[in-house]
Amino acid sequence: MRIAVTGAAGSLGRRVVQLLADRADVDVVAMTRRKLPAEAVPPQVEVAVADYADPPALRAALKGVDTLVFVSSDGPDARVLLHHRNVVAAVAAERVGHVAALSSVDADMASPFCYAVVNRLTEDLLLASGVPCSFARASLYIEFFQAWLTEARATGQLRLPAADGRISLVAREDVARALAALAVGEPTGRHHDITGAESVDLAGIASIAAEVWETPVAYVDIPADTYCAETAATGLDPWWLYAFSSMFASVREQRWDRVRNDYTQLTSRSPIALRDVLSAYG
Ligand SMILES: NC(=O)c1ccc[n+]([C@@H]2O[C@H](COP(=O)([O-])OP(=O)(O)OC[C@H]3O[C@@H](n4cnc5c(N)ncnc54)[C@H](OP(=O)(O)O)[C@@H]3O)[C@@H](O)[C@H]2O)c1
Repeated sequence: MRIAVTGAAGSLGRRVVQLLADRADVDVVAMTRRKLPAEAVPPQVEVAVADYADPPALRAALKGVDTLVFVSSDGPDARVLLHHRNVVAAVAAERVGHVAALSSVDADMASPFCYAVVNRLTEDLLLASGVPCSFARASLYIEFFQAWLTEARATGQLRLPAADGRISLVAREDVARALAALAVGEPTGRHHDITGAESVDLAGIASIAAEVWETPVAYVDIPADTYCAETAATGLDPWWLYAFSSMFASVREQRWDRVRNDYTQLTSRSPIALRDVLSAYG
C-alpha cells in the first residue's frame, strides 16, 4: 500500500511518517514544502516536494497513492482553506482511494474559533468530493498548550481568558498514532474524536503543572480584552493574537470538554497523560 503524508516535515507529520515507515506493508511518500536532508526521513521513505499552494505539484506527488494522511496547513485561515481546497482537488483528480484527514474536536461553523470553521469546511469539501474519508478530530495538543504553561512556570501565573472552560488535552504522539491507524484501515466515512483521557479546567491544568514541576503555578482568569492587550504588548503577530483569542472563546464555550475512547478503539492504547508529557520536559 502506498501512503502519502502531507506536512511531513512538521512535528505531527514527521511522526506519522515514522510510524508508517515501520510497517513492512507500506510504501511511504513524505510530502513537504521544501526538499529535506536525507537524514530527516527514514531511508525507505520517498520525499515529494509539494507546497499546499501548488496544485500541479500536489497532483504529481499523489500519483499512484492509495491513501493520503492529510495533515492540515497552518497560518491565516483564508490561506489554510485555499491550501485545503487544493489538496481536496488533487486527491479527487488523482483518484486517491482514502483520505485520513486531521480535523479538530471543535469542527463547527458556529464556533468562534477560526480553525473550527476551516476544519468543518474542509471536512465538508472532502465529503462532497466523493473521496472515501476518515477524520481524526483531535483535541488541543498538550505540546501546543505547553507554550502557555512554560511561560506560567516562570511567572507563577497562567493568565488566560478561558473562564471555567475544560479541555481534554491530547498528546501529539496519540494524534499521530490515530492518523497512522486510520490510514492503514478501510475508510470509515466518519469522524473519530482523539482526546486525552480526562477533561480539565485551567485551574486543574495549572495545578498538575505545579505538582509535576514542583513550582507554584496558579490559573488567573482574565477578560478577553485584557488577554488581547497583554499579548499584543509582547509583539505577537496580530494573526496569532486573533487565532488564540478566538480559540479561548471556544474554550469558554466548553467546545473542548469532550472525552471519548475512539483513540483506544483505533490503537488499543491508552492516551498519554498530561502529567507524563510535562514530566518528560523536566
Ligand atoms: N490541535 C492543536 O492543538 C493544534 C495546534 C497547532 C496546530 N494544529 C494543526 O495541526 C497541524 C500539524 O501540527 P504540527 O504540530 O505538526 O505543526 P508544525 O510542526 O508547524 O507542522 C506544520 C507543517 O506544515 C507545513 N506547511 C506549512 N505551510 C505549508 C505549505 N504552504 N505547503 C506545504 N507544507 C506547509 C510546514 O512546513 P515547513 O516545515 O516547511 O514549515 C510544517 O512541516 C498544523 O499544521 C495545524 O493545522 C493543531
